[in-house]
Amino acid sequence: MFIYRPKLIFPMTEQVQAQETRKKFQIQHDRPNCIGCAACAAVAPDFWEMNEDGKSDIVGSIKKDDETEELDIDEKDFAANKEAADSCPVNVIHIVNKETKEKII
Ligand code: F3S
Repeated sequence: MFIYRPKLIFPMTEQVQAQETRKKFQIQHDRPNCIGCAACAAVAPDFWEMNEDGKSDIVGSIKKDDETEELDIDEKDFAANKEAADSCPVNVIHIVNKETKEKII
């Protein structure tokens, strides 16, 4: 007699959370002070996009109550986001090393 026993699959949320904790950097956007110059979206379009309200958003970020945004990123994505931060004329993009807590920019 055949008895079907489906394999136990762990929920994706646990896997995603585990990956998030391993990511080395966090990008932060002080969105209330963004003037919408769009340099970030031009230099790092995989991470930054312009919103209908004229300001940028971090793609896939966590939106906080104070309207700032955060996204944890891998080391391989540091350079693109550092370029975005360097290109912002009002310095509203920040990058923090999650391990050392150092604010890189
Ligand atoms: Fe805003 Fe600076 Fe980008 S002003 S649109 S975060 S380059």
